[in-house]
Amino acid sequence: MSLKSPFTMYQLIDAKKRAEVLSTEAIHWMVNEYVAKRIPDYQAAALLMAIYCRGMNDQETANLTDAMLHSGRMLNFNDRTVVDKHSTGGIGDKPSFILAPIAAACGVKVPMIAGRGLGFTGGTVDKVESVPGFRTNLTLDDFADQLKKHGIVLMGQTPEIAPADRLFYALRDVTATIDCIPLITASIMSKKLAEGAEGIVFDIKHGSGAFMRDPKQARLLAKSLLKTGKRFKRRCMVMLTDMSQPLGQEVGHALEIQESIRVLKGEGPADLTYLSIELAAGMVLLAGKAKTMAEARNKCFKTIDDGSALKKFRHMLALQGGDASVVDHPQKLIVAREKTVIKSPKKGWLKSFQNDQIGYLLTELGGGRKTIEQTPDLAVGFTFHAKIGAKLNKGDALMTIHHHANQKELVSAIEKRFLKEVVGFSTRAVRAPKLISEVLRG
Ligand code: URA
Repeated sequence: MSLKSPFTMYQLIDAKKRAEVLSTEAIHWMVNEYVAKRIPDYQAAALLMAIYCRGMNDQETANLTDAMLHSGRMLNFNDRTVVDKHSTGGIGDKPSFILAPIAAACGVKVPMIAGRGLGFTGGTVDKVESVPGFRTNLTLDDFADQLKKHGIVLMGQTPEIAPADRLFYALRDVTATIDCIPLITASIMSKKLAEGAEGIVFDIKHGSGAFMRDPKQARLLAKSLLKTGKRFKRRCMVMLTDMSQPLGQEVGHALEIQESIRVLKGEGPADLTYLSIELAAGMVLLAGKAKTMAEARNKCFKTIDDGSALKKFRHMLALQGGDASVVDHPQKLIVAREKTVIKSPKKGWLKSFQNDQIGYLLTELGGGRKTIEQTPDLAVGFTFHAKIGAKLNKGDALMTIHHHANQKELVSAIEKRFLKEVVGFSTRAVRAPKLISEVLRG
């Protein structure tokens, strides 16, 4: 029996506990009341857990998205060329800095509202703040203005966008309800819809460095995002990508920006260049700036060859107060001076990385947050010299730790943990994982 207004949280929790479908009105009521602080956290948490255990159908997921979207300000550019990318995050995940200027140079308007790192994954906003002076705390009006005038903007999350998500996310974080597909879908989609994106390319990662480790779960999330995108009449595309090893070679804030600049100059590692181009090409296609992926890909490559992507990146830095000369002098991005190289202890093939542990080791080194209040050290990090499938001799370089002079003891502990807990070797040849396992269209 479907619930009727006036609702109570007790009824909603009880209904979901019995796997009943919550009505549109009930979901909107609950989100509005929770944002207005008229529902206590313990009842909201109980409902989240009931949703976690019993799930939500597509209509409920869309209603939850809609209610969360309407909890704050919504931008609407009425412009098909406004297309964003969303990644579920991982180790060395930096394509945003590469694909945004590439897509913008192809005529896409790229509205990026990005997050900070917590747990084992780094945050886009923290990384770009390694560029001296770069401001990520724009107002939403400045954000919209810059997008309309210059076609590229990158800022941190603001309380005006989907405030319900902020509240629910904090509660999910402490009640073991993060990894729930309808809740993740509503959380991601409400923010992307609110920033005015007409098209969205999703990079859904799986593997030991992703929060959705299991590829089957990642695929279910992909399907859910596509269905919800369709209900909101947005063009969407999902790439399911491997996160069982770091993306590119660099992990650490300033190091990752340096590496992104290398890709924009056509000098980056193959995996990172490939994924960034594919994601950017998806954006170009959704924006209607190309008819096929092949045409979009060619356009994207051209922006690297003719320097227009690098020019866009420089321009974005300057627009937001950043020192754009870092593009020509990447050494201005401060990287820690001391280097310790970890060498392969044996001959064989590199079989695996326990990728999330790399994020935790970076946090140990100071380059991450153990609490929300902490400021990460942007100068420390790791450079990876070998990827899964590499043939190694004893003594070959595996990874360089970039650290400070007073961190010698810590570095030696990290080296031990890296060799014991992070890398796996095989005596037989190992095949490298496929970086993009599947592309799904809405
Ligand atoms: N990222 C989000 O924005 N929300 C989630 O729920 C999970 C990942």
